Amino acid sequence: MSNLKQRGFNQFSDLSARLNLDSGDAWQVHEQALAMKQAGEDVVLLSIGDPDFRTPDPIVDNAVSHMRVGRTHYSPALGELNLRRAVADYESRISPLGCSENEVSIYPGVTSAIYSVMSCLLNPGEEILIVDPLYVGYTPILEALNLKVSAVLALSEHGFEPQLEDFKAAINSNTRVVFINTPGNPTGAIISRETLGALASYCFDRGIWLVCDEVYSMFTYEKPHISLRTAAERLDNIVVIDGLSKSHAMSGWRVGWVVAPVELTKHLGRFSAMSLFGCPQFIQDAAAFALNNDEYYVREMRAQYQKRRDLVCARLAQMPGLEYLTPESGMFIMVDISRVYKDDKEFAQKLLDAEKLSVLPGSAFGEGTTGHIRLSLVQPENMLTEGCNRLERFLQANH
Ligand SMILES: Cc1ncc(COP(=O)(O)O)c(C=O)c1O
Repeated sequence: MSNLKQRGFNQFSDLSARLNLDSGDAWQVHEQALAMKQAGEDVVLLSIGDPDFRTPDPIVDNAVSHMRVGRTHYSPALGELNLRRAVADYESRISPLGCSENEVSIYPGVTSAIYSVMSCLLNPGEEILIVDPLYVGYTPILEALNLKVSAVLALSEHGFEPQLEDFKAAINSNTRVVFINTPGNPTGAIISRETLGALASYCFDRGIWLVCDEVYSMFTYEKPHISLRTAAERLDNIVVIDGLSKSHAMSGWRVGWVVAPVELTKHLGRFSAMSLFGCPQFIQDAAAFALNNDEYYVREMRAQYQKRRDLVCARLAQMPGLEYLTPESGMFIMVDISRVYKDDKEFAQKLLDAEKLSVLPGSAFGEGTTGHIRLSLVQPENMLTEGCNRLERFLQANH
């Protein structure tokens, strides 16, 4: 045994062990594709989820000008008042119930916001109900907090929208939090106003928190976004989380927020004071500017994504054996490949080997999307066309 081991330097907390998650072979294809790309191979990456657009110049300029005037110091734990107000205004625009800055707290991204909220709501071992398929970034948070997790299955036959009856069947007397995501990743499904409203009341009556990740709120196509705050009759048990990573192509800036009842917001402030000690001032200034002046840029980027979605869907429609639902929002298309191939992971691997096209197997997101592949739209149109060409060729060769 080495000296370091003898001293116990190879021993870490239980939390560290829980976070040592095996991402399994689901992500292998993506990682392999990235390595191939770095080695100079002609790989088409339709497996990524980071917007390819640049952050709009006026937002960048705003951040730089605030840096230059010295907005580079500590910031309040709950966030800068100008950004909290901008968020409250945005939330008031999308929900008739209105929102005050006292209900808003700021985080470096939605991931951090979710971790903070769950930390303030749940003790280790307590029960949370989630939806399958789910965004893969949730799993480490649930693991870190050592929660007891159960899931409602959202199936393609319902357009991947989780059903109220299934929530009711899955909720039990130990359920502390129901955690939903609308518009959803990876399917782009939007939960209807009726389901959101009824679920909110059902949870309220049972003393259950209903938390909703709405990071794709500005990313809906034909239908408008329906915020949980719009649908819920009362807001006492409602928490909405959102941010700028997707809508403003600002994933690297790390800007997210939580809108929650004032009492919970106070706890979140204490949690942030201990864990984050505030977010950068100049980033919050630029985020407030973005939210107050975003209409044009968000509209432009959304129009591009919609065009890309339509382009890929038109190509998929020509490929025999494949089925897909045109997503109502977001940056991804889930394609059902189960009629042409039985194993989605194997399909993704073979597609990379044969055509150097990287996609994610649906099983990476849960049972509900097993037998699917996820195509991402964060590539320019010529790249998407090339990706479709490769997929088509692969299907023809393997039929
Ligand atoms: C549903 C969902 N929530 C949260 C995140 C992460 O957001 P952020 O980058 O703001 O932490 C993502 C990123 O892909 C996502 O798809």
